[in-house]
Amino acid sequence: MKNNEISVYIHIPFCERKCKYCAFVSYCLDEKKQDEYVEHLVKEINSFKTDKIVKTIYFGGGTPSILSEKNIRKIFDALHKNFTIKKNAEITIEVNPNSVTKEKFELYRHLGVNRVSVGVQSLNDWTLKKIGRLHNRKMAIRAVKDACKIFDNVSADLILGLENEKNTHKFAKKLVKLGVKHISSYLLEIHEGTPIFDSVKKGTFHLANDDKLAKLYAKLVTTLKKCGLWQYEVSNFAVKGFESQHNINYWIYGDYVGFGASAHSFLDGKRKQNANSLLDYYDNVVINDENTSKTAIEEKIFLGLRCFFGVSVKELKSLGYDIKKNANYLDFIAKGVLFEENGRFFLNDKYYLVSDFVINSLL
Ligand SMILES: C[S@@+](CC[C@H](N)C(=O)[O-])C[C@H]1O[C@@H](n2cnc3c(N)ncnc32)[C@H](O)[C@@H]1O
Ligand code: SF4
Repeated sequence: MKNNEISVYIHIPFCERKCKYCAFVSYCLDEKKQDEYVEHLVKEINSFKTDKIVKTIYFGGGTPSILSEKNIRKIFDALHKNFTIKKNAEITIEVNPNSVTKEKFELYRHLGVNRVSVGVQSLNDWTLKKIGRLHNRKMAIRAVKDACKIFDNVSADLILGLENEKNTHKFAKKLVKLGVKHISSYLLEIHEGTPIFDSVKKGTFHLANDDKLAKLYAKLVTTLKKCGLWQYEVSNFAVKGFESQHNINYWIYGDYVGFGASAHSFLDGKRKQNANSLLDYYDNVVINDENTSKTAIEEKIFLGLRCFFGVSVKELKSLGYDIKKNANYLDFIAKGVLFEENGRFFLNDKYYLVSDFVINSLL
């Protein structure tokens, strides 16, 4: 991304029901409350001034597809009024199979959306029920088919490591056959405070062990490779040319501004985060985060090693970290866990599943 470009994130913190594993900031509130939120969101967008040109816009959640036509139009109006949006900007919206319709897809296209991310998670009805999803396999397939009829660039999310779920790679294959060009598949994370956390503790939700997870992950990677998708990040796969430009901007440390509750921004080297609670957000509560060179080093290693960009040795040195003096680094290079090319180091993709271990050993 060039210096005069910026990405925009819009957070829609509403869901019809909370899924049992989810720790994202989202609330189950009626349309009146959603109207109130959108008023504040539009105000926040209008008060932001920049000369930069918008290269990507991402509507995330929560569930952006829950919004009424009136509210989504209001947000687009504010974006167009306040920003110069590049002609071929990537504009993504996350949708849930239970709240999206053909008519909504048509509306999104009409408003300029050109990329849709469908939250499928699984194509097994038992699993979907167990994790509290409001849709079944049939509804997910319907949503993906409808999306692919209207958009070229469709992505689907699948969660890896759900109880008894051995077929995630088959689901991925099925989704690609339906026309999906991008798959994000994150390993199930168990967050304290979520119903699934309590179920795991009580023994009523069973997690796959590490060996099983490694096999499931390897199967997914191999299957998607055979389907023609390349792995451009630990959890992201795409047909060439369909990589998420919005995510790539995060990974390369580009500028972005986030609007809405809990949204993060990174502008001219400074970070900030809006409050999670709606009332605090309405009171303009912002959490500023000093971007020290320590956090910059950590982020560069964390983001760079998880994707195909790798990490620049010179850049780390300019931040005060000579990685070549780290014994773990030298050991990882000797063992082939990491490799160097043109002044950058990369994680060998065989070790993607243990990326957290490798990254922590370097920090
Ligand atoms: C912001 S969330 C929500 C998108 C959309 N509301 C949905 O549920 O489909 C984006 C993605 O994060 C993933 N996700 C959320 N919580 C997770 C967890 N605890 N572990 C792994 N993946 C998770 C899911 O794949 C989800 O589609
Ligand atoms: S996974 Fe999606 S639908 Fe489920 S609670 Fe989280 S944001 Fe809402």
